[in-house]
Amino acid sequence: MTASVPDTLDAVLADSIARWTGAVKDRHSPLHTPVVTSVINDLPAPRIMVLRAVSPDGGLFRFHTDARSPKAQHIGAGAPIAVLAYDPAARVQLIARGTARIEHQGAIADTAWDTSALSSRRCYLAAHAPGTPVTEPTSGLPEHLLARAPTAAESEAGRPQFSVLLIDVRELEWLLLTSCGNKRARFQRNAGSWQGQWITP
Ligand SMILES: Cc1cc2nc3c(=O)[nH]c(=O)nc-3n(C[C@H](O)[C@H](O)[C@H](O)COP(=O)(O)O)c2cc1C
Repeated sequence: MTASVPDTLDAVLADSIARWTGAVKDRHSPLHTPVVTSVINDLPAPRIMVLRAVSPDGGLFRFHTDARSPKAQHIGAGAPIAVLAYDPAARVQLIARGTARIEHQGAIADTAWDTSALSSRRCYLAAHAPGTPVTEPTSGLPEHLLARAPTAAESEAGRPQFSVLLIDVRELEWLLLTSCGNKRARFQRNAGSWQGQWITP
C-alpha cells in the first residue's frame, strides 16, 4: 500500500488491494477481522470474520466457517455479500461486494483445512451447530478440549463441519478521510479487469 495519498484511480486500486492482501497475515490490522454481511430471510446479517486469503488481483476473498452455521446454510452455492472494514490509522474505509459461495470439499477447502492451526480447527469440534439454542452458556466444545488445542488426530473430527466461504468480488470501494476533503472511488470487475470511478464521498 502507498505511504502517500494515492491520487490516481490506478494508485487507489493498488492501495485497496494491498490493504486487503496485507491484512491477511497482519493480525493487528483492523482489516484482518472485517464485518461480513450476508442476507438472511431478507434481513442484513453482519458478523466479524477472520480474513484468510485475498487473491493478488483482489478478485477472490476467502474466509473459514462452520458448514452448519446459518450463514453457510443461507449462502450455499451463491448469495450476495459485502465485506466492510475501517483502518483508523490510515483513515481508510474499504468495502468489497460480490457473490459468496460455500465449499465443503475440493482443493481450496482441503488446503485450507490442511494448513489450519490446531487451535483454529478446535472451533469445528463443537457438538452443535452455531446458533443452536442452549440452556446455559457453553462453547459446545468437549470438556477435555476446553483448555487445550486438539491433537492433529483429534482435530480430524472437525473436518466435516469445516468449510470455506469464497467471495467472487465484483466491486471494491475506497473512502479516505482527510481534513482537506474526503476522497472516494469505486471499482467494478468485469472479465477480470477493474474499471474505476471517482465518486462523491
Ligand atoms: C474476532 C472474531 C473473529 C471471528 N472469526 C470468525 C470466522 O473466521 N469465521 C466464522 O464463521 N465466525 C467467526 N466469528 C464469529 C462470527 O462473528 C459469528 O458470531 C458466527 O460465525 C455466527 O455467525 P452466523 O450466525 O451469522 O452464522 C468471529 C468473531 C469474532 C469476534
